[in-house]
Amino acid sequence: MSTIFDFNGAPSAGWSQPDPLTDDPLSGIGQTLRRASLPRWPRASEPELVRHYTLLSQKNFGIDTGFYPLGSCTMKHNPRLNERIVQLPGIDRIHPLQPEHQVQGLLAIYFEMQEMLSICAGMDAVTLQPVAGAQGEFTAIRCIQEYHRANGQGHRDKVIVPDSAHGTNPASASMCGYEIIEIPSGEDGRIDLEALRSAVGDDTAAMMITNPSTLGVFETDIAEAARIVHEAGGQMYYDGANFNAILGKTDPGIMGFDAVHYNLHKTFSQPHGGGGPGSGPIGVKEHLSEFLPSPLASRRAITEDDPSGVGDGYWYFWEEPKSTIGKVQQWNGNAGAVVRAWAFYRRYGKELERMSEHAVLNANYLRHRITQGMAGEAENATFEQGAPANVVKHEFTLNMTPMKEKNGVTAKDVAKRLLDFGYMAPTLYFPQIVPECLMFEPTETESKEVLDKFADDFLTILSEDPEILKSAPHTTPVKRVDEVLAARQLILKYSYE
Ligand SMILES: Cc1ncc(COP(=O)(O)O)c(C=O)c1O
Repeated sequence: MSTIFDFNGAPSAGWSQPDPLTDDPLSGIGQTLRRASLPRWPRASEPELVRHYTLLSQKNFGIDTGFYPLGSCTMKHNPRLNERIVQLPGIDRIHPLQPEHQVQGLLAIYFEMQEMLSICAGMDAVTLQPVAGAQGEFTAIRCIQEYHRANGQGHRDKVIVPDSAHGTNPASASMCGYEIIEIPSGEDGRIDLEALRSAVGDDTAAMMITNPSTLGVFETDIAEAARIVHEAGGQMYYDGANFNAILGKTDPGIMGFDAVHYNLHKTFSQPHGGGGPGSGPIGVKEHLSEFLPSPLASRRAITEDDPSGVGDGYWYFWEEPKSTIGKVQQWNGNAGAVVRAWAFYRRYGKELERMSEHAVLNANYLRHRITQGMAGEAENATFEQGAPANVVKHEFTLNMTPMKEKNGVTAKDVAKRLLDFGYMAPTLYFPQIVPECLMFEPTETESKEVLDKFADDFLTILSEDPEILKSAPHTTPVKRVDEVLAARQLILKYSYE
């Protein structure tokens, strides 16, 4: 594939670097610190450069180019209003090390976001520092660990996770030094209380679970599960990746959780994909709050003799929690992601309850359209459903084993073929308890028309010649890649020949 470095555009156009060898303004810089020759910039004029980046962006798939039903990832529309707000000079042009009196606006946003996130999760305190859900998990488990140590319970060395858990749950707990106890799900895909009862003990530090589960199934026994874990002296951790299903309807606090992470880049519309930038704040109940990472945004009312009498009647400042575990991230987290998510939350407020309703409605509608079609219209379609519950929450799984047994077409082949139809593939082979799993999460931001078209196209794909599917994708810039090679031999920079 040729790149802009091979492009032979307008001679010496497109850049205006001082020449390190001749330019006078550089005379103050010693020879040893100067380049010996000009950098090898591409020779492109402005329009050529714009075309280059535009074409490059079109080679990739994004939520702005098509439907992105990536289960468990909540790829929803990113409102452009959020971008306007995050680009305001008082937010965009500040530096994390500026003194408090110069960044009162951002501190006020941080404080308000901490409060709003506490409310929607039924928690007492929030830190915005972690920059991913996984980092939030690690941070919260570290707080739980310090809590146990402070209470003479440092011997508790086991964390329980259900077999439907996201891989980051056991990974985060293991990074904190915990042993992982995996318990099987019941036949209906939900937590098996008997398995939980026999797993807990005086060595239980915590249980990590998401609700609805990664099957899209609501854990109706969650309060009892929390009671069992608490009775054994453990703490309950809520993986908030699936918050989009419950926001405004119920909350982890009501369910009996002690700590939770939020994925601002899922539920709260911060753009994500391609590795970032994300934001994974955590919320905790009062008894864990003194261990939160430092600093938290705080405020005090401004008194009459206070020289800083500006703003909304409060003075905002950074504060260190009493027994903090320290910092988990530089610059107090991803401020841009926090501000975008704050703008989203502020804009919808209590209306966010409808967001969850529509997300759940869309998932059930799409599931119904697909499974109905698979049972009848499409030739190759006699598939059992992955999730046994009749009604799912915001996402659902399909077990594609029957198709594989019938003609050798795998879940991966179907996913690759969807790319040819202009869709992002659903999540593949996760959760691992569903064989040949495809996992769909349409989110609330898609219309019925989009869902209908997707269901029709999906059913068309299922009745295609298996050979077409096995060699898909056929229309993307890069065809089917060798995934092992791609993961093992990353080529991330251009090398001049
Ligand atoms: C259920 C679940 N938990 C945790 C995570 C981790 O979140 P992040 O990707 O922000 O680290 C994910 C990510 O997809 C997830 O789906």
